[in-house]
This record gives sequence, structure tokens and C-alpha cells, in this order.
Amino acid sequence: MAHKRYTDPDPAIDAKVAELLSGMSLEEKIGQMTQRGMAPGMTDKHSPVTKGALGSTLGVFDTAKINEMQRRAVEESRLGIPLIVGNDVIHGYRTIFPIPLGEACSWDLDLIERTARMAAEEASAAGTDWIFAPMVDIARDGRWGRIAEGSGEDPVLDCAIARARVRGYQSEGLASGKRIVACPKHFVAYGAAESGKDYNTVDLSENLLRDVYLPPFLAALEEGAGSIMSAFNDINGVPASANSFTLRTILREEWDWSGVVLSDAHAVGELIDHGVAADYEDAACQAVTAGVDIDMGSAAYPDHLAAAVRAGKVSETLIDEAAGRVLRLKLMLGLFEQATVDESLTARLLGCREHRTLAREAAVKSMVLLKNDRDALPIKPAGKTIAVIGPLADHRRAPLGCWHCDGRPDDVTTILEGIRAAAADKARIIHIAGCGLGDDEHDGFDDAIHAASDADVAIVVVGEDADMSGEAQCRAYLGLPGVQEDLVEAVAATGTPTVAVLLTGRPLAIPTVAEDVDALLVAWHPGVEAGTAAADLLFGKANPSGKLAVTFPRAVGQIPIYYAHRSTGRPAHGEGTEDWNKPYKSRYRDEWNSPLFPFGFGLSYSAFVYDALQILTPAVRPDGTLRVRVDVTNAGDVTGDEIVQVYVRDVVASLTRPVKELKAFQRVTIAPGETRELTFEIPAASLGFTNARMQYVVEPGRFEVQVGPSSAEGLVGSFQVVE
Ligand code: NOJ
Repeated sequence: MAHKRYTDPDPAIDAKVAELLSGMSLEEKIGQMTQRGMAPGMTDKHSPVTKGALGSTLGVFDTAKINEMQRRAVEESRLGIPLIVGNDVIHGYRTIFPIPLGEACSWDLDLIERTARMAAEEASAAGTDWIFAPMVDIARDGRWGRIAEGSGEDPVLDCAIARARVRGYQSEGLASGKRIVACPKHFVAYGAAESGKDYNTVDLSENLLRDVYLPPFLAALEEGAGSIMSAFNDINGVPASANSFTLRTILREEWDWSGVVLSDAHAVGELIDHGVAADYEDAACQAVTAGVDIDMGSAAYPDHLAAAVRAGKVSETLIDEAAGRVLRLKLMLGLFEQATVDESLTARLLGCREHRTLAREAAVKSMVLLKNDRDALPIKPAGKTIAVIGPLADHRRAPLGCWHCDGRPDDVTTILEGIRAAAADKARIIHIAGCGLGDDEHDGFDDAIHAASDADVAIVVVGEDADMSGEAQCRAYLGLPGVQEDLVEAVAATGTPTVAVLLTGRPLAIPTVAEDVDALLVAWHPGVEAGTAAADLLFGKANPSGKLAVTFPRAVGQIPIYYAHRSTGRPAHGEGTEDWNKPYKSRYRDEWNSPLFPFGFGLSYSAFVYDALQILTPAVRPDGTLRVRVDVTNAGDVTGDEIVQVYVRDVVASLTRPVKELKAFQRVTIAPGETRELTFEIPAASLGFTNARMQYVVEPGRFEVQVGPSSAEGLVGSFQVVE
């Protein structure tokens, strides 16, 4: 039988919630609104669990302890209400898949749904009920460390991925017999942190909020996500976890959504640090009034809310609504029927071969080939000497990336191991680190130069360690840490064809590296199958197909840099520094306007040719469908996957509009010599924007369409939206 969605109406569940609430004390209701992590004594007989003072947990991974807590909650608390066990399962539980930003570069929604489902399988087998993901924050600033956790800069791609992840996490029929609830986060605009600094203030127009930052949340909720997490940041001066405009007006009234709102960790108490609450009681009152159902970890609710209700500062109706939503979720999750898990399942499921096979596919599809001169790739290993250089070549932790949950360095196939396994019987492999990740000395360079000089090809593996991106890991400089750029330069200067493999959690500003090397493969933090996947691509067993979900800048000074920027009154032409771009254009004196690598860009070992663009609907009504067709031919000699992208520009509108916006894409496999005729059907309703009166409108007039392999190139046509 198909599962009900968490927010579907269900009179029987509503009646059960009302019955439960009617028998609960105020403290017990507030207990349901309280979440905390493992603390000493949590599994004891006299813990908050048995007192009914806790509704859910975070950061508790030990399956035996989870079962113990659930048993106590069900058997020893007065009302026998189970806990919801919530955890950060961001890109896999034990089997670590590529970081979400990497996986987004696959543009493969089916793959993304499958990895999310497998993460849910493992998490649920280990006792987790609630996954604090997907992170759907749009991010256009590589300084912000959490860019690693999202799907990049574009709302249309992010919406599609948000839906795929929610479907995957909330899949039916998980082996544990339990269900998982997803938690899109962080509501909202967390990724717009000023200067790319985590937790920083956000000041943005309501238009941008509505057109760019909110849509991925709505997509996730429409797909059935049963909860949402309110963010740390403020928005135009109002902290997101006390923001009745976003949490009530938009979420409850405009979107008519009835799921659970969970604060981010300590965000309720941090209303004091924001300077909008005088003390914890004030913070609790503001958060619950704004619409935060659960206080994650700050203790403002459990310690102060009951007194506030008794003093008449908060109505008990609000408490009933919030606690009722939590109870409803527990009932929908089936926790009253099954709260514990079979502890033997983890041994069979976690990190099993089938999951690793998927991790390899995901890593292959996530990696993006950004440069390939002199046909440096793929490498034909027979009879060659291959120098594998760089501090990350044999690194076991970096490939796991941030938030790697129960992922273990010992499970990782390093890049060197992958290369050896794929080529050691055909080629001679030499390995030299050359320098450490954060070294400022060039001591090991001579050995690296020597090895490269003796080799037919050098593979330099450089980048960031696992903990250099993710929460609070912001960077003001976006080059390679330490002396790694010097190492790449020294290796390339030997004249030996040089391939850089970049392990990173963010788009880096590495123009010199990109210039120095013959080939550049961005592997992101690819997970446990890092080495196998990289070797598949380096030696041509697989064909690169990833395309950037985020722009790579040339310089930090260009940030924020994203393809969908608005038109200005003084646009610069081309790259921005051509001679004929006279001063007083929108450009830099000392850097091009163009990025190092644009959104949507990625190379293949195939050569795709675009032809015969046709706009099948030259005039479309606002409620009609734009239809566009194009031929894509694989003129290369290997089968490859191409991600065909459609961008639209609203040429004249009542407000300035982005110079182009992604509206559709297809990932297709094309054999050598084959031509695929592709048709895109785009609802004209998706071509609108929020106007000056905060209404979503599709305005009549001329639009341009670009169909091509990236945001920067393609065939161009036009159509009219007509009344
Ligand atoms: C803080 C992070 O912002 C959030 O993403 C995470 O889910 C919580 N901590 C819980 O670990």
C-alpha cells in the first residue's frame, strides 16, 4: 500500500493527536517541542526520555543506544510516546557519495534519487527516522563553506534536485520497515550570507527571495517533505527563526503547508545574540509565535516556555498546534507501531557492495572535466610511466568531504589506489606527495619534479581537505591551500603532460592552475569510491559527463559571480576588458568579467554538435507551452552523455531581468555518429518573475532562447509571449 504523504489530511490521525494532547501536561507538550543530542544519562531510567521531556534527538548514531532510548520512551514514559531520531545524513550514511554540490553536477535526477534512497536505507537501518537534508540553499559565493552541501547557484536545477532527494529519502519500502522524513533546510536565504561568511546577515529584496531562494523549498514541500528547518541568519533584520513573514505568511498561509518546523541548532537561544530577544524566555516566545515547532538544542523551550504560557505571554493554543504537528509526524512515521530497529541489519546493509557500486557511478557522473588540451586525457597506460603527485593523491579523509556522517577513511579508495588498480599491470606508477596540504615549504618539490620529468604523464592531485568546507568553514582566499599551486606549476614546467585532479568542496579561483596544466578534472569530494571513479575517467573506461552546477571565478573580487545576473544599463561586451570596452562600462580595470569556467560547462571525450534549433511555438500565451527542438550529434568516436541546457531571456520587462535563466535540461546518451532530436516543453507559466507589487507575472513581449552545452554558449532563437 502506498504511503500517505506526511502532510496529507487524515481524520483518524487528527483524532489520535487530539486524544493524545488532551491527556498531556503542558510540560509534556513542550517535551514534544524539544530536541537535544546525547547527554550523560540519556539512556538511564531517570532521563528526560522517561520523563516525557524530550520529543526528538539529534546526533545520536549508536543503534543500540537509539533502541534503548526508544524502549524507555515507549515502555517507561507516562504516555509511551516514541522519539524521532534525527540526524545529518547529507551525502550518505556509511557509504559516502559525492558531496551534494558534486552530485548536482551530474544533473542526473534518477541517480540523485537513488543515492538519497540508499542513504535513507542505511540511516533507517541504523535507527534514524529523520534526515536533516536536503540542503536546498542557493549559493553564489564560493567563500561560503556550506556551498558544498547544496546544489549550486541555480533555482531550476536546485528545485529538480530537491524533489529528487526528497523522493529518495522518503522512499517507501526501506529494509528496516520504517519510514524516513526529510527536512529541507535552511529556511531561508542562508546561502546569501553577506561576504560569504557563515551565519552572517542577509539583506535581500523580496523579489530575489521569491524568485531565487524560496522556490527550492516549495519544490521540496510539494514533493512531500514533512518538515523544514529554520535558518540561523537574519533576513532584512529579522532572524529566520523568529520570522513570522517567512514561517507563517509564506509557509502556512501562502503555501498552506502543515508539516513540522524545526529550528537550526541553538537558533532559538541565539535570538539573544542577534539582539532581538532580551533573554531565553523572550527568545522562546518569539520563536514559537513566529512558528518554530521544535527548539533544536537551545533549551529555551524546555526551560522557559511553560512559565511564559502560565504568565500569559504565549497562548497554549500555539503549544497545542506545535506539539500536535510533532505528534502527527510521529504517527505518520509509524513510530507508535515500530520505534526500534533490528540491530543486525546494519552489518548486512551499511557499506555493502551494491551501495558502493552506486557510489562509484555517482562519483563518475559528478566529476567535471574542465580542460583537456593536447588530448591529455584519456590516458593510454600501456608501457607508460605515470607519476602520481600531490598531497591528496593518497589521502584517505579528503574524499569523504564535509558532513560525512558514519563514513570512514578506511572505506575510501584513494586516487592513487584507484590508479594503481586500473593501470599497475600496464604502466609503471610512481607516487610522490611533493608537499603536505597546508605546507608552506617547497622541500619535497625536487622529488616531485624528478618524478614528473621521468614520466610520460603526471597526475597531480590537489585541493582541499574534508574539513575545509561545510559549516563555518569559510575562506577569504580561494586558491589552493599552502604551496600546492607552486607544486602544480613546478610539475607542469617539466614539460611532461600534466593532469590536475582537484578535490574540493567549493568552486576555487585557480586561474594559474587552469593555465599551467593540460587537463583539469574537478572531482569535488567524491566519496568512498573516489579512486575507482577518477581512474574510470582518467583511463577512459568512463566518459566525463558532469557539468558545473556553480560558476568558477577567476578571482575572489568577482564574487558573487553567477550566470543569471541582471542586466545593467552599462553592460560590458564579451570578456569585459577588450580595448573597445571603453571606461564607464560595468567591468573591472584589472580582471575580466567572465568566469574561469561558467555554470553548465563541462567537457567530454565525445564532441557534441548542436544544430537546427527550431522554436516550434513562436507565439505562446502565458498559460501555454513553449516548445523548442534541437539536433545534437555526437561527432566524436566514443559514446557519451550530454546535458543539453535551455536558457531564456525576457528581453523587455517591467523590472530588470537576468541576462539568461535556465528553464529546462535533458541528459541524453548519444552514440558516435548518432544525432538525437530533442524537444523541450516549457510551461510559459515558468517564464515569469515577481514584479514590483510582489505579484508573480508572465509579461507579454519578446523572449530569447539559447540551447546549448553550457550557460555561455548555444544556438539562439526567439519567441513572443502574447496575451
Ligand atoms: C547546524 C547546521 O546548520 C544544520 O544544517 C544541522 O542540521 C544542525 N546543525 C544539526 O547538526
